[in-house]
Amino acid sequence: MSRVLDHIHQDHRNMIQLLEILESEVKDLASGSDHDYSVMSDIVDYFNHYPTHFHHPYEDKLFEWIGIENPSLRSLIDELQTEHEAQATLGNEMSMFLQGIRTGHMVPREAVVKDLTEYIRVQRDHIDKEEGRLLKEVENLLEAKRAIEIPLPDRDTLDPLFGDKVDTAFSLIADALER
Ligand SMILES: [Fe+2]
Ligand SMILES: [Fe+2]
Repeated sequence: MSRVLDHIHQDHRNMIQLLEILESEVKDLASGSDHDYSVMSDIVDYFNHYPTHFHHPYEDKLFEWIGIENPSLRSLIDELQTEHEAQATLGNEMSMFLQGIRTGHMVPREAVVKDLTEYIRVQRDHIDKEEGRLLKEVENLLEAKRAIEIPLPDRDTLDPLFGDKVDTAFSLIADALER
């Protein structure tokens, strides 16, 4: 498999791991068991960091290239790019919402569960759509063309959680991931 595909798949696997942790926290919150708002908000903040600033912009450029090579994928690409924009907005809103709760805002538990469940669904659906409907095409095109001149983001230095050094802002979720 190409380096490009490898990189995107790995980013997706990293994100899925975090969504699983978030899902389990939301389940605990819903059932009234012990839950940790810091873990939940750190996960949302992570999504607002590396995926928003590096993973999505890289995909946007890659998908542009795919759209030129294969115009029949254009409407799917437009949809995915619109989702990237919507996710950035949703991510900021979710971050402020959770920050508010951590600093004492009273919000009914059901409302938090509902919003976080929707947040997880949006993230998962997006990854599933890319994995299921576009990346196979990318692989075929890359095999046919071989060269692509879009530099991959350097995860080792740019990713504050899955890179070489864990940023202290994300040490809580690094512990949850046992990194
Ligand atoms: Fe994406
Ligand atoms: Fe993606």
